[in-house]
Amino acid sequence: MTEQEFIPASYFKTIEKGVVTWESPSNIALVKYWGKKPNQIPENPSISFTLNHCKTITELTYEKRDSDGSFSFEVLLDGFQKDSFKPKIEVFFERVESYLPFLKDYHFQIETKNTFPHSSGIASSASGMSALALCLMSLEKQLLGDAIDDAYFNEKASFLARLGSGSACRSIEGDLVVWGETPSIEGSSDLFGIRYPYEVHAVFKEYQDTILLIDKGEKQVSSTVGHNLMHGHPYALNRFSQAHDHMKSLKTILKTGDLDGFISLVESEALTLHAMMMTSMPYFILMKPKTLEVINKIWEFRKNTGLPISFTLDAGANVHVLYPKSESVEILKFIENELVAYCQNEQYICDQIGFGANRIK
Ligand code: PMV
Repeated sequence: MTEQEFIPASYFKTIEKGVVTWESPSNIALVKYWGKKPNQIPENPSISFTLNHCKTITELTYEKRDSDGSFSFEVLLDGFQKDSFKPKIEVFFERVESYLPFLKDYHFQIETKNTFPHSSGIASSASGMSALALCLMSLEKQLLGDAIDDAYFNEKASFLARLGSGSACRSIEGDLVVWGETPSIEGSSDLFGIRYPYEVHAVFKEYQDTILLIDKGEKQVSSTVGHNLMHGHPYALNRFSQAHDHMKSLKTILKTGDLDGFISLVESEALTLHAMMMTSMPYFILMKPKTLEVINKIWEFRKNTGLPISFTLDAGANVHVLYPKSESVEILKFIENELVAYCQNEQYICDQIGFGANRIK
């Protein structure tokens, strides 16, 4: 697929008004995307587990209007007007307008809520942007007289979501999604996420992700700024090529159920992401002292018990604790007894691998 193929030739139907609702999950990367080219093209490939419980639910109400050459929309979060979200959505609309030429012909009300606690430090951009992209695709599908299939629908939804927030393109489907062209994954693309196309061992089918909410404060450095600091970064080229190598190694790990290999690769990816932040100019640190204490506790517990527990991090202080479902009882006991004390207000979220977005209305 090329970008041109996402531009519709013409619409056959007139739709006056309507409403559509989608719920879309967050995702957690195993191989991390960090660094981008213009138009939200990733510098390196990434792969993520789609989550199951951390979701955004977005209801899009649309009504036809006489276009005045601008976008017309309002945004509500948890039932209240949320004007601070408007600039990001305005930028998103500008980026996707050529692929959704109906945007200026409607007034939109975007009503959104998250299933995870408000300002928990969990990025809602992946779930939020993918939910909005899916709602817009449902409207486009009607305008096209339903003449598009599910594969195109999902591909274009992922393509649009990417233009809102890069990692959002990995939130349309599940359970493992690849984004970014890389020779070891057939069909991989810089333009949209694809479902991981190879065999996956049963142990990775019901993987658990318990998210420890270490610090709920505003991030000091946004991921947009962080991605840009990879331009001219002294280790950037090695990092990008390492990500390709990791994608290739992960293929064998996922197929054979090699848990030791999985743990080393995923933890190395998490620490490399943060090492890139610490070695950019200006440098910055998003981990907190408690992030490091939790990591050391996990390592100690793994050494003492031999259980396959591991962690990953996103661009923040929270720790995602990853483990197979079969070890849940013991590992959850450890989390509750030893790790929850490090969480802000003892807050944590038990999530697991999920299967993507759903239309609910
Ligand atoms: O989608 P963005 O621009 O917020 O970037 C997210 C980057 C990481 O979460 C740190 C890694 C990833 O691949 O999700």
